[in-house]
Amino acid sequence: MRLLLIGAPGAGKGTQAELLAARFGITHISSGDLLRQHVREQTSLGQTVKAYLDRGDLVPDDLVMTMLRKPVLAAVSGYVLDGFPRTVEQAKASYAVVRPLGAEVQAAIHLAVPREELMRRLLARGRGSEDAEAVVEHRLKVYQERTVPLLEYYAGREWMFTVDGARSADAVHEDITARILKLAAMLAEPT
Ligand code: AP5
Ligand code: MG
Repeated sequence: MRLLLIGAPGAGKGTQAELLAARFGITHISSGDLLRQHVREQTSLGQTVKAYLDRGDLVPDDLVMTMLRKPVLAAVSGYVLDGFPRTVEQAKASYAVVRPLGAEVQAAIHLAVPREELMRRLLARGRGSEDAEAVVEHRLKVYQERTVPLLEYYAGREWMFTVDGARSADAVHEDITARILKLAAMLAEPT
């Protein structure tokens, strides 16, 4: 199974991706976690991207795509991608890479959470400079400008759905799982 999670900063992408990975035996691939790991390990990619993460800006597409290529193609039993694609350009470019390999996404899940709840969660977590109030505000603005158009681009596709992400993590997980199983059953039906 190959899934995408789309949602604002603090929407619970990482939390839900972990639960889905365990439930379906697939690999959790988080673009943000991988980028932060490069920064911690001070790799050359890490040194290049640190300023983007600190500001809450998106890292250039080619760097993210190169970084993700190997883990995505290695995830033979399936993946749940958390934080990628984040823009229409990334969606189009990655589709062109994975489509010929038969590794394209099968379901995209949008986690909808009100802004006040996102702010509350992120400021409570305090993940270093990235979660400082001004940076959180900027990340939310970048989401609005760059990722909301991706939701509009995917809107109306039968494999994309929105769930209310403001409930407890377990309730959100049960909702997502039920929707995925329904979608899988629908796809398996003879036409
Ligand atoms: P990324 O790591 O993707 O950060 P983000 O989108 O800002 O989201 P977070 O990881 O902060 O939140 P989340 O949605 O995973 O929520 P979580 O489960 O942690 O990206 C970081 C940076 O990397 C970007 O700013 C950019 O610079 C770069 N980047 C990454 N991908 C890129 C790409 N494709 N292109 C270009 N640049 C890219 O939950 C948040 C908090 O809420 C936690 O404390 C959690 O415990 C809590 N929580 C979760 N669910 C619930 C719930 N249901 N109820 C109550 N609390 C909850
Ligand atoms: Mg995350």
